[in-house]
Amino acid sequence: MKLQHRHFVIGITGGIAAYKTCELIRRLQDEGATIQVVMTESSTRFVSQLTFQALSGRPVYCSAWETPAQSGPANVARIANGQANDLLTTLCLAREVPLFIAPAMNRQMWQNAATQRNIAQLRHDSIRLLGPDTGSQACGEIGDGRMLEPQSLLAELIAQFGPHSEHPLAANTPNIRGVLQGKQLLITAGPTFEPIDPVRGITNRSSGKMGFAIAQAAADAGAAVTLISGPVHLTTPTGIHRVNVTTAQEMYDAVKAALLDLRRDCFIAVAAVADWRPSTVGDTKIKKDSGASLTEINWIENPDILASVAQQPNPPYCVGFAAESGSLNELEKLLPEKRARKSVPLLVGNIGETTFGEDTNQIMLCDENGTELLPTDSKSNLARILIFRIAQRLRHD
Ligand code: C5P
Repeated sequence: MKLQHRHFVIGITGGIAAYKTCELIRRLQDEGATIQVVMTESSTRFVSQLTFQALSGRPVYCSAWETPAQSGPANVARIANGQANDLLTTLCLAREVPLFIAPAMNRQMWQNAATQRNIAQLRHDSIRLLGPDTGSQACGEIGDGRMLEPQSLLAELIAQFGPHSEHPLAANTPNIRGVLQGKQLLITAGPTFEPIDPVRGITNRSSGKMGFAIAQAAADAGAAVTLISGPVHLTTPTGIHRVNVTTAQEMYDAVKAALLDLRRDCFIAVAAVADWRPSTVGDTKIKKDSGASLTEINWIENPDILASVAQQPNPPYCVGFAAESGSLNELEKLLPEKRARKSVPLLVGNIGETTFGEDTNQIMLCDENGTELLPTDSKSNLARILIFRIAQRLRHD
């Protein structure tokens, strides 16, 4: 039970994703939390007050008055603009505790410039956005805007308020606003995909979540960010220039081009780049009975993007990642040697099996002073801690 003695107020707004909140409430209760539900008038058209009353075991409030307020759905726009025209938006304004918003909307609505303006405003106001996700939507379309699944929301809340969080109610992250103002950052994220033939290839389990969280934190800190991403299913964080690539060679070319284009203050290589690629790529699918065999593939080594940037004259401040297998003790032994081999001032280690695809992570920082293990936390929190540390380094460089 990781959320014992925690009490959450869950605000439900008018959208089809309201049904997912039922599951979230059950999972939070399984972890020992108590829940107070507040609904907007329009959300009661999707899931009834009675449902949430039964799930939470408490009366569900819609309005500060006896007669429910006649208002539209509380949404990011109203919270971003500080409008308090129903109970839920009033609570959002009159609070001392951290506010998290899990947006849920159709992809056109999410991409609309007005929505993006409001989202930027919320981030500026230190309101934490959880999601949205990418995928199929209730309207039949596919794209950004899906509400995060209950288990992802639960993981985020456990990371924020569970046993490992040091200052649970203050959201245990440093204030990074403005710490990278005027800085240019280049970040790689996600896996690469090396084709074997038109239908096959080799890749790895990297989801891109850590790299995207770092890009988001850097932008929140005021940096101009270029994010070079391998194939992932993630929404581009607001205000970030994203370049999509598939192979390691394409990522290498994109990094070189980005460095020619602009002087960068910092390069963070988070991508899980394939070390090898097939020396030739079949024009057609290699068939089982064609005589050619997948066991006869010849491999050539991909360029090491991070090492090549770190070894250039007058390099940006370079941060590498090392996803390893095994124990934290082994990681601690391995990091200093790898940091020296890559010639980077800061190397961040993590255990591949426990980070790839997850919303939480445990990282070990390795610099000239040795190694430091940070407690398990959400990737978004760890990203903010890392960005804070990098900003301190850039100031002293
Ligand atoms: O040597 P290893 O693959 O463990 O190093 C990982 C670090 O190096 C990561 O920061 C990764 O982004 C980077 N890397 C790279 N190009 C490669 C291989 C790894 O930039 N070809």
